[in-house]
Amino acid sequence: MKKIVLNAKDRSYDIYCGSNIYGQIGGYFDLAADKICIITDSNVAPLYLRKIKNAVNADVYDYVFEAGESSKTIDTCAKIYNFLAQKGFSKTDILIALGGGVCGDITGFVASTYLRGIRYYGIPTTLLAQVDSSIGGKCGVDISGGKNLVGSIYQPFGVLIDTLFLNTLDEGVFNDGMAEVIKYGFIYDKSLYQKCVEDTLGNLSDIIFRCVQIKKEIVEKDEFDGGLRMILNFGHTIGHAIEKLGGYEKHTHGSAVSIGMAYAAKLSEITYSKTGLFDSVAGSLKKLNLPVETDYSYTDIAQAVLNDKKNRDGLLNFILLKEIGKAEIYKINTVKVADFIRQAF
Ligand SMILES: NC(=O)c1ccc[n+]([C@@H]2O[C@H](COP(=O)([O-])OP(=O)(O)OC[C@H]3O[C@@H](n4cnc5c(N)ncnc54)[C@H](O)[C@@H]3O)[C@@H](O)[C@H]2O)c1
Repeated sequence: MKKIVLNAKDRSYDIYCGSNIYGQIGGYFDLAADKICIITDSNVAPLYLRKIKNAVNADVYDYVFEAGESSKTIDTCAKIYNFLAQKGFSKTDILIALGGGVCGDITGFVASTYLRGIRYYGIPTTLLAQVDSSIGGKCGVDISGGKNLVGSIYQPFGVLIDTLFLNTLDEGVFNDGMAEVIKYGFIYDKSLYQKCVEDTLGNLSDIIFRCVQIKKEIVEKDEFDGGLRMILNFGHTIGHAIEKLGGYEKHTHGSAVSIGMAYAAKLSEITYSKTGLFDSVAGSLKKLNLPVETDYSYTDIAQAVLNDKKNRDGLLNFILLKEIGKAEIYKINTVKVADFIRQAF
């Protein structure tokens, strides 16, 4: 078992990484409270809820929502607020997020808003949630106007990462997580990229731990997303456009980001005259069974990119690679975005 401490503005918290440790959660964190509510989804609950309930010492409640992105809404949060209020949850009580990125985003948002903020702990059960979404405090919900448009940055009080959970993941969900894993290699750490290419499964615990370290470093330097943290969006500009064009149903987040990273690598190769960069990025993604091409036209993609409500002041932040292991924020005027993207097609 390894530990990382993340020092955020409001609090520092421990992130534990190990295998088969979730049954001892009470030994890792100070869970002293009258009441604890474990929030989880309908797939994870039958697999892991009982053991966690047995591992904590308080009046334990659970709230199980229907698995899937379509539950990441204000409506689900409102139901949870009412559940907590009915059960008498107070400022000193605790929430635990047991699940993937959807569960973590919902629970974090509920914790940040119920009684203007109560304690919550993360037990991420997907690869994506373990290496990315459970760390750094970004949480929120989707609205009909777009994904993740409502939310906050509210750090958890602790995170427990157990690789045992990954044994029950669908292959597609696991591969989705690998897109976020290798992204850290592309943007920050060439040796991590090489480890992923050589033998991902053989190195999985080390790889997850390294991703968590990188996320910690980035969050500590730029918790509120004003600069460095944006490099985590490598592949996400085109990736989000692809998700949107598919109505958020046709493509999973990881596969869309994988395609987005391949196109961003092509644009990096052209912008910085780095021959071979695209082949390295696309080759490694293919090796991880991730897609690198889309049938959408560059005009469709550009339109969707330009409609993104996160664009600011006529400028779009595109994350490019100077080389493997080194990312850069490349600002581009929105009037030039379509021409810029066209180069990759
Ligand atoms: N907050 C952040 O910083 C951040 C970063 C990246 C992504 N996200 C968000 O994360 C979400 C995607 O996360 P995700 O891919 O984990 O999706 P998810 O939470 O929907 O999980 C994917 C599927 O795996 C199932 N599952 C989870 N753990 C399991 C296990 N151990 N065994 C079997 N099945 C299991 C879930 O029930 C679900 O069906 C998106 O909403 C995205 O916006 C947030």
